[in-house]
Amino acid sequence: MGSFRHNNGICPEPEPDTGGWGVQIDESEFPVMKKKPSRAYLTWEDIGVSVSSSNSVGKEEILTGVTGYAKPGEIVAIMGPSGCGKSTLLDSLAGRSASNIRCSTGRVLINGRQQRLTHGTMAYMAQEQNLTWTLTVKETVYYSAELQLPKLMPKSEKRQRADRTIREMGLQDCVNTRIGGWGNKGLSGGQRRRLSICLELLTHPKILLLDEPTSGLDSAASYYVMKQIVKLTHEYQMTVVVAIHQPSSQVFGFFDSLCLLSLGKEIYFGHTFAANQFFAVHGFPCPDQQSPADHYLMTINTDFNDQDTVGENNPVEQVIDKLAESYKSSDIYKNVRCEIATLCRSEGDVIERKGSLQANFFTQCLVLSERSFINMYRDLGYYWLRLGIYIGLGLALGSLFYQIGSGYDSIGARISMIMFIAAFLTLLAIGGFPSFVEEMKVFHWERLNGHYGVGAYVISHAISSTPYLIAISVIPGAIAYWLIGLQQDPSLFIYFVLVVFVSMLWVECLMMLVAAIVPTLLMGIISGAGIIGLMILGAGFFRLPNDLPYFFWKYPMYYISIHRYALQGLYKNEFKGLKFPEYLGGPVTIDGEMVLSSALHIEMGHSKWIDLGIMFAMAVAYRIMLFCTIKAIERVRPIIKASMSCSTLRS
Ligand SMILES: Nc1ncnc2c1ncn2[C@@H]1O[C@H](COP(=O)(O)OP(=O)(O)OP(=O)(O)O)[C@@H](O)[C@H]1O
Ligand SMILES: [Mg+2]
Repeated sequence: MGSFRHNNGICPEPEPDTGGWGVQIDESEFPVMKKKPSRAYLTWEDIGVSVSSSNSVGKEEILTGVTGYAKPGEIVAIMGPSGCGKSTLLDSLAGRSASNIRCSTGRVLINGRQQRLTHGTMAYMAQEQNLTWTLTVKETVYYSAELQLPKLMPKSEKRQRADRTIREMGLQDCVNTRIGGWGNKGLSGGQRRRLSICLELLTHPKILLLDEPTSGLDSAASYYVMKQIVKLTHEYQMTVVVAIHQPSSQVFGFFDSLCLLSLGKEIYFGHTFAANQFFAVHGFPCPDQQSPADHYLMTINTDFNDQDTVGENNPVEQVIDKLAESYKSSDIYKNVRCEIATLCRSEGDVIERKGSLQANFFTQCLVLSERSFINMYRDLGYYWLRLGIYIGLGLALGSLFYQIGSGYDSIGARISMIMFIAAFLTLLAIGGFPSFVEEMKVFHWERLNGHYGVGAYVISHAISSTPYLIAISVIPGAIAYWLIGLQQDPSLFIYFVLVVFVSMLWVECLMMLVAAIVPTLLMGIISGAGIIGLMILGAGFFRLPNDLPYFFWKYPMYYISIHRYALQGLYKNEFKGLKFPEYLGGPVTIDGEMVLSSALHIEMGHSKWIDLGIMFAMAVAYRIMLFCTIKAIERVRPIIKASMSCSTLRS
């Protein structure tokens, strides 16, 4: 199947009706996009992947010497038993090996060049899907279309493309169903998978890697999904590699080339129709009544090492070794090498980056803000639960310190109440961490596929979360403020709410920063709580500022703790202008400012607005840090991986 066209060099003449990224474009309408579409010839040679292992050898081979190629307009199927290395091979082709991969060797070239496959030059649907669980199918595809499709394409056309892709994947009956997760049942497993394929097919990318596109689908659904993929592959001359489990005969017939793996070894790579002969020649002819795909998998499956499968004196491992050796010494393998040499002989087109054809920065921010706002609205754990708890705490504080008055005892009560508001309320923000992590997962995946930039994500998150943070600060703040009976001046109330709001803004950025760095949910919660705990300890409450030990606590903790500024601001806001009677009701009164400077060691040289300004600057600085951290992780991770591979190669 497939339009097999032999080419001597690379990159034949472009199809006249497709744009740079396979997007169908009327050039008169979009003059900017008058470019020759490039095609992608993907070749991989001697791919080897190993991970650290606990045994004495120290290294476990996952893939060894895997070689093959994929051409535009054709589909290569990677098949093999579970755990044979299909996903690992796709990861290697996409340049997205896991962080614990100790060594990866070999060459992956596109059009004979080393080109970065990540960040927008191809689409990869991984085995594990990362979708925003609160959105419906329609919303997910529409937002993705707005982010991924060219900025000059009208919105109506983007919607049409999205609708068509939804229909092509047979999702028209569940367009308004939410994806679901976290105990809320939504789409079925097969529907989720088809939705993930939809998102990757939207732009008709030059290179499409699909990990198990038909898992969870019945045979009819698998057939129709694959048929659509074949149609688009031919129409847009996409280069497609799919890892697939147990395809039906009809689906198997769609594949142009087959890559068979077992125990990380290549058993066969070549034309699908020639695999039968290869197996027959080496003593494993396919029985008449059996599907070839089933036969290959039965022959090379080691998971259930059953003597019946291949004969009594022939353990499956030996069969695999024999087939792998036979393949490496066969003419088929030599032809594959020759074909790769031909494809790589002259360097072809550089696949252009999708960036120039994507939504612009402003649209990205707008679409992401809207999507994120809806997600926050529908995910009860994101803000609503926190709002409820804060209202409860506001009422609890109000009843505990009800109408605090201005007696001598109210000094201590005010101080502890302000401490609770400034410090412990931020600690509760950790409750929203699981929702951040879910959102970050989607972000990481979309980012790897090049859907939008880090800046757009960081800004849009700030925009979408602000209304919720205002609600969380104002409603419980007002309840507590009036019940406690703090100074009845609107400007003082506004300052009080602003301090709570900026604290929330800051803690939000901190938790996102932690989510970006720390790999697991539990580690993130513990790390976040640890950092906030340290900041609260260094704020000058549990030990007064002048009593703090210089090393670590005074320098730097006291100066970098946002709680210090929140405490100082709130203390000044509340105590300035108040007078308290001295103990035992003598005639002398205690001035609020005296409490601040003598009892609380507060620096009175600057106004409370400076404290608020510093807090705001810290919230902004943390968001900039988030941006820089994500960027740095993206840049440093490949370098670390490369250096780890090199050191392994040298050793
Ligand atoms: N990052 C990793 N660290 C340790 N082992 C790994 C890692 N990635 C893969 N493996 C191991 O390598 C083998 C191949 O894994 P891979 O996910 O590629 O298999 P697969 O063929 O895709 O399986 P399935 O069909 O079940 O998805 C497995 O035994 C797996 O446990
Ligand atoms: Mg897999």
